[in-house]
Amino acid sequence: MTKRYVFGSPIETDAILCKPDAEIWQDGRLSFQDNALSCEMEDEEIVYGLGQAVRGINKRGWIYESNCTDDPRHTEDKHSLYGAHNFLILDGESKTGIFVDTPSRVVFDIGYTESHMLRIVPQTPDFELYLIQGETPDEIVRQFRGLTGRSYIPPLWAFGYGQSRWSYCSEEEVRQVVKNYRENHIPLDSVYLDIDYMERYKDFTVDQERFPDFGAFVEEMKRERIHLVPIIDGGVKKEDGYEVYEEGKEKGYFCKDEQGEDFVLGVWPGRCCLPDMLNEEAGRWFGRKYRILLDQGIDGFWNDMNEPAIFYSEQGLREVFEKIDEYRNQNLDIQTFFAFQNMVAGISNNPKDYASFYHNYKGEKYCHEKVHNLFGYYMTRSAAQALEELSPDKRILLFSRASYIGMHRYGGIWQGDNNSWWSHLLLNIKMMPSLNMCGFLYTGADIGGFGADVTEDLLIRWLSFGVFTPLMRNHAAQGTREQEAYRFESRELMRNVIGVRYLLLPYLYSEFMKAALGDGMMFRPLGFLYGDDPVARRVEDQLLVGDSIMIAPVYEQNAVGRMVYLPETMKLLRFRGGQVLEEAVYQKGHVWVEMPLGDVCVFLKKNRILPLSEGGEHVAEVDFENLKLYSFGEDVKPYDYYTDDGESRACELAGMKTLAG
Ligand code: GLC
Repeated sequence: MTKRYVFGSPIETDAILCKPDAEIWQDGRLSFQDNALSCEMEDEEIVYGLGQAVRGINKRGWIYESNCTDDPRHTEDKHSLYGAHNFLILDGESKTGIFVDTPSRVVFDIGYTESHMLRIVPQTPDFELYLIQGETPDEIVRQFRGLTGRSYIPPLWAFGYGQSRWSYCSEEEVRQVVKNYRENHIPLDSVYLDIDYMERYKDFTVDQERFPDFGAFVEEMKRERIHLVPIIDGGVKKEDGYEVYEEGKEKGYFCKDEQGEDFVLGVWPGRCCLPDMLNEEAGRWFGRKYRILLDQGIDGFWNDMNEPAIFYSEQGLREVFEKIDEYRNQNLDIQTFFAFQNMVAGISNNPKDYASFYHNYKGEKYCHEKVHNLFGYYMTRSAAQALEELSPDKRILLFSRASYIGMHRYGGIWQGDNNSWWSHLLLNIKMMPSLNMCGFLYTGADIGGFGADVTEDLLIRWLSFGVFTPLMRNHAAQGTREQEAYRFESRELMRNVIGVRYLLLPYLYSEFMKAALGDGMMFRPLGFLYGDDPVARRVEDQLLVGDSIMIAPVYEQNAVGRMVYLPETMKLLRFRGGQVLEEAVYQKGHVWVEMPLGDVCVFLKKNRILPLSEGGEHVAEVDFENLKLYSFGEDVKPYDYYTDDGESRACELAGMKTLAG
């Protein structure tokens, strides 16, 4: 049961598709005072949610801020990442889902100031509140997703393994990457084109020198069964004669500053203007530009820098230079020096800048900071709507960095600029279920880590988890160690681990589609299914993946195995050296399981089926019909197997096959 409450005059976000009638607020489990919602949490109560956020599956013990932020250091002292996902579930004696719908900041103090208190403080007094009651967290998620709409579904090829780097700078470089993968028989389906494919970072252009015949190159790659996926940035280069800029300027499609002039900010191309993604007409215009690449055979995109990231604003830069001139001849005392240092470090993503430009949203003028969390959402929505118009039958891959609740209808997200740290592999694991709760099913992190130098063992362990995440992409930053799988000594292990993805593909795709079409989750914390088991409820580093299996990834360097908690009888299936080994059946309880580097372990539930294919070097090679079914138990439940052509937009659960063990 869902109840909706309206406080003040909220700005519509379009997160919710079907709104129940609003009710009059009365304090109940939550009370409302001084523009804060609060409630006491029971000792054993678990708080799930907040989508893209630091820390645990159980969010208790920290203070989070919902504020889309371009911050490449996802350390545990942070409060915000790229997405704004204001959805929580309190799982105690009773279960309550809470969604705070507002496009500006919200603070969630979940037992940080007072260990038993949850306090939710929206930045403004104008917001909508949804309270959802249910018997189980799963049921609450399903109700929530019923309100927010069906999750985005990518084409099947996008479930293959992808290689990315900032940046492959030329046709030749991309060719080499593909050649190396193919020669080493390491599976691969896509290569990502980061900003350097463009002509001086101008959206919807391709550098003519380095990619002289882009259309022909895209086709050449398609013959190799490789999809190229270019990046699209939120800012448009301010350059006379550049068509996209000229058109946007002439039509008044850019965000405006206080004086009504186009707001100027610095991002990759230098000075840029921001298309007003929130403005329907401007969004439609920007979305239709994707056609330029679509016409050259491209069938996937990643949208970036759309928090939006502001390296500097023209105004901010001016002020800093003025201040520097002032400081230049002073003998700086230490406090002044720190102020000077902070001023320079604070040029980027400065709150002052976010308060200095305007949108025309639903016919009204809004200061950006009031609608900040909607920018990435609307950029991706504009792209998705245009892509649906341009490619009405065939699905197009689309994912974004920034997002808000509701964006899951239009695209996936990746988890942004993580680092090659073991702790970020663990963060990736913990974030999957909270993103799934919000409908972001097509998601994954930069495998191997984006910033910093990866080690071979970290890459193998990360791949061993990444084989389960719908978006399985290895991506790394400029200047870091090259981390393509073929570059390492243990290529054989890399091949086998990545190969596991292709064995699992029929199961993963089927489970993904059932979650998408049935408003469910593909990755769930153990507590969702074994809520009565106090041990299972506290497990933070194991996940249920679909209906048949549990995983317990290794995320520590030099580990050769780990303790695993079995919430019920399960059988260990071990992928090793291209083989599937059926190992011990474990009873409920803790057990030590050996997991040497290169092994991928799954724990199969009793009386459930895990269908596996024979694998392949790319998705088109995988046979989704001839499957080997793994199961154990006396009462094996038939498996609901979803397959389709992998590209039509029309998909439905009706007509699913049943596989009997
Ligand atoms: C941002 C993106 C990253 C990309 C880089 C260059 O940091 O998050 O994935 O590689 O920009 O485009």
